[in-house]
Amino acid sequence: MRKIIPLNNNWYFKKQYEQGLEKSCNLEGFEIVHLPHSNVELPYNYFDERLYQIVSCYKYPLCLPKEYKDNVIYIHFEGVMAYAQVYLNGIFLGDHKGGYTPFDIRIDPYYNWDLETNILTVVVDSTERNDIPPFGGQIDYLTYGGIYREVSLGIYDEIFISNIKIETSNVLEDEKSINLKVFLKNINQQKTNVDFNVKIREKYGKEILCTNFKESVTETNSVYSFNIGGLKNINLWDINNPNLYEIVVSIKAETSSDEYIDTFGFREAKFTANGFYLNGKLLKLRGLNRHQSYPYVGYAMPKRVQEKDADILKNDLHVNLVRTSHYPQSKHFLNKCDELGLLVFEEIPGWQYIGNREWKEVAKQNLREMIERDWNHPSIILWGVRINESLDDDEFYTDTNKIARSLDSTRQTGGVRYITDSNLLEDVYTMNDFIHDGISKPLRGQQEVTGLNYNVPYMVTEFCGHMYPTKRFDCEERQMEHALRHLRIQDASYQDDSISGAIGWVAFDYNTHKDFGSGDRICYHGVMDMFRIHKFASYVYKSQVSPEVEPVLEPVTFWARGERSIGGVIPLIIFTNCDYIDFQYGDKPPIKNIYPRREIYKGIPYPPVIIDYSVITPEEVGSWGMAWEDAVIRGYYKGKQVIEKKFCNNPIPSDLYVSADDLVLDATQKDATRVVVKLLDQRGNILPFIDEIIKIKVEGPARLQGPAELALKGGAVAFWIETINKPGNIYVEVVSHSVGKKSLVIQVK
Ligand code: GAL
Repeated sequence: MRKIIPLNNNWYFKKQYEQGLEKSCNLEGFEIVHLPHSNVELPYNYFDERLYQIVSCYKYPLCLPKEYKDNVIYIHFEGVMAYAQVYLNGIFLGDHKGGYTPFDIRIDPYYNWDLETNILTVVVDSTERNDIPPFGGQIDYLTYGGIYREVSLGIYDEIFISNIKIETSNVLEDEKSINLKVFLKNINQQKTNVDFNVKIREKYGKEILCTNFKESVTETNSVYSFNIGGLKNINLWDINNPNLYEIVVSIKAETSSDEYIDTFGFREAKFTANGFYLNGKLLKLRGLNRHQSYPYVGYAMPKRVQEKDADILKNDLHVNLVRTSHYPQSKHFLNKCDELGLLVFEEIPGWQYIGNREWKEVAKQNLREMIERDWNHPSIILWGVRINESLDDDEFYTDTNKIARSLDSTRQTGGVRYITDSNLLEDVYTMNDFIHDGISKPLRGQQEVTGLNYNVPYMVTEFCGHMYPTKRFDCEERQMEHALRHLRIQDASYQDDSISGAIGWVAFDYNTHKDFGSGDRICYHGVMDMFRIHKFASYVYKSQVSPEVEPVLEPVTFWARGERSIGGVIPLIIFTNCDYIDFQYGDKPPIKNIYPRREIYKGIPYPPVIIDYSVITPEEVGSWGMAWEDAVIRGYYKGKQVIEKKFCNNPIPSDLYVSADDLVLDATQKDATRVVVKLLDQRGNILPFIDEIIKIKVEGPARLQGPAELALKGGAVAFWIETINKPGNIYVEVVSHSVGKKSLVIQVK
């Protein structure tokens, strides 16, 4: 029977690898760290990215109970950046190239049961080795370093299940079917019979199937396929009702038994020349790209924080699709996408550059590892099998398509380009369309891009980004144009039935190399900043949801007489999903029933309201030299006021907003949560230009990521605190010299 033991606590770490360290069992001079771990903690910006491009050494003293002496034992790594060599007691056991996909190393043949502890060593090369994708050229993001995802020990009998694949079919019929593939390992090539038992149950509910099979095994690696038909009363997985099922596959042989559990869903996802269909229904895809990076710790964020990003995308920004640009992302992020009903386009690691034969072999191996890890996620609807924005290489991409299709015939392939007239070897032409510069049309027609004279399945996978970098603390007019570009492009996507959807660049600002970004190692391309705090452009997305889910009303303004050129706030764009709004300036009677501008934005579900001089007279809001007044904007849905936004004419620091995403954390392993800090005016609005220093005090079983003194950026900032594997209360105090302090308590259990 299998036993999976997490191996994330109390690793021994040395930042700089020294020759021979892999042979030594001496732990002196090593620092104790917990996974996920970043080989260095980086500054927020303006740092030299070579800081983390180092070779480091991790050690773990293993003391396995004797009862496992006759078992097969593997160490499982979820992700090590970028090249890992694994040793046990100084003996080299194996290596892995590529920082974004998992790998397993078998240790039992080398485990010395006579020793009290066996020393596991992982030498981690986080340099940009040009034999590993994405390296070889320039890349617009950082890859960081270290054992940045989880590690576990897997203890098995001689015959065990290494993976399962669940392919659903007849999904839209009353009686659905499953083809189940079970991948068995039979380490000693025993000749024996194996009894299989398969149970399927609703993820949080009743069992719907229990069935048995018998097979005989001989080989080391074998795959067994079982067809299970006649499944009735199944609830489909979709974006509104992400119904999940759990499958438990058990085996029993003479001397071995095992049990493998996974989650899946019944759904049909299809890109066609006329758009994308989920379960037979047309669905316009409205998405954002996501980089998995965070301030200071780079990629090394634990489960909860990975999940939070999925939650932000789905429940705050209300997108229906995320692209894991430009690599496979954390399993926790993907599991959450399954749970929340957020569709995923997942792609292989790479950025523009294609390397030599050896490099391509690593890319193909990474592709296999990605698909084999992720093929049961209902949220994943497309495999990206090209290096993002690389040029055509028909031989290479014929191979990657072949690999993807042979491993998983149930999903289509895409491959992200920026070139036109590219050879379409995939099922979907996926294009980064950066045509919109504020003046030219928002998007090209697909035939203009593909060069074909007929339509094919087509999706826009990036737009905006470097065409209009915008900081959360940029001036109002720039932020307005940033938001309008996202709006125009999404609107254009909605109006073109041959475009399956559009994925904006990008959800969150991210650290990058010196060759990109604003010179401070940040690409300010997000609709949110690196702390996942809203820029105005995020409300283009957030407002595309029924007010039944959440009423949204966000005027693009800091509300000031003299922030914009010439002064005033007209035209005032208000991102909202309300039926109409009222606008009240000062003591004047409100201007009533101002409707969204459907005549301008004909495609998008919820166009914004725009207060311009067709709605209001210049006298009503006054001009330069006249007194500035308060304002109230009220949003109505089905005749009732559902939301209200107030602005004051003389904002001053009035309140410190301090809020943690979570108030209970896990004491058994590294956990983390974000604390958001905002300095607010009398009406609860962020003071957009305040940059005062705030001081953070953290007491109790926790560690603050990053510095304990921060300057507010555009009136707000956030920080993450991580647990240190001890229970207790964490006391967080945030001090602002203008409005005093706030504290909160986070329990670690
Ligand atoms: C694209 C690229 C992205 C990012 C973006 C910025 O070319 O795929 O990774 O660099 O540009 O707009």
